[in-house]
Amino acid sequence: MVTLTLNGLGASYGRVKVLSDVSIDELKAGSVTAIIGPNAAGKSTLFKRIASLIKGTGLVELSGSDSGPRSICYMPQDTGANAVLSVYESVLLSAKQGSSWRVADEELTEIDRILKALRIDDLAFRGLGELSGGQRQLVSLAQALIRNPKVLLMDEPTSALDLHRQVEVLNFISQTAKRDGMIVLIALHDLNHALHYCENTIVINGGVMAASGDTASVITREMLRDIYRIDARIEHCSRGKPIVIVDGALHD
Ligand SMILES: Nc1ncnc2c1ncn2[C@@H]1O[C@H](COP(=O)(O)OP(=O)(O)O)[C@@H](O)[C@H]1O
Ligand SMILES: [Mg+2]
Repeated sequence: MVTLTLNGLGASYGRVKVLSDVSIDELKAGSVTAIIGPNAAGKSTLFKRIASLIKGTGLVELSGSDSGPRSICYMPQDTGANAVLSVYESVLLSAKQGSSWRVADEELTEIDRILKALRIDDLAFRGLGELSGGQRQLVSLAQALIRNPKVLLMDEPTSALDLHRQVEVLNFISQTAKRDGMIVLIALHDLNHALHYCENTIVINGGVMAASGDTASVITREMLRDIYRIDARIEHCSRGKPIVIVDGALHD
């Protein structure tokens, strides 16, 4: 089984250190992990470091896999689009990145499957430049999923989506993780989504890992007070599931 271990990851921009010493033991194939933390905490930097898009300290170990170029895929937060391409072409281009240009029928079938699952098949031949922010985000998700990576890093993949689409996308991601044995890390701001969809959670604050473990044990009243500076309660809903209820922002 494929596992991902992070060993003392750190990164700087110029001389400014923004991430240090992030270590995680053996995230397993099929698991979905939330990366949470305040704005500018270092979540995107951590993803870029894991994907080797920026240099820095530490080691990323992917064991049990023939770590080819498709092993780790990063879906960025800002989905800047190449406006000349159609939706379909852009997903096809993503599928072919790092491989031969010959297109197999199965790849086209797979593109159709993913576009349908994300309910953007009706947009397939529209230009990327003509899409709304949410539609572009779904295309970017399709581009990531078509590559079928061992590790999928998704940076706030639901930030531009309506509630229905958010739930649909998070369900599809966790099903895909289980089905394909993918290791998924998702940066999220909605902590109730973390509680509902992610078995593990890593908290990043000020460039360091403030907590990690199973989600329900990490998202606590104390963590919300100390890291997010909010007054909040973890209650249990009528189905027994934990939910975050926010009462207010704390001031120093
Ligand atoms: N390209 C960059 N050059 C310089 N500083 C950056 C760059 N990207 C991010 N930063 C800084 O690094 C810190 C962490 O940013 P980021 O990882 O994007 O945070 P998050 O994703 O948690 O909001 C912030 O202080 C941000 O301003
Ligand atoms: Mg970010």
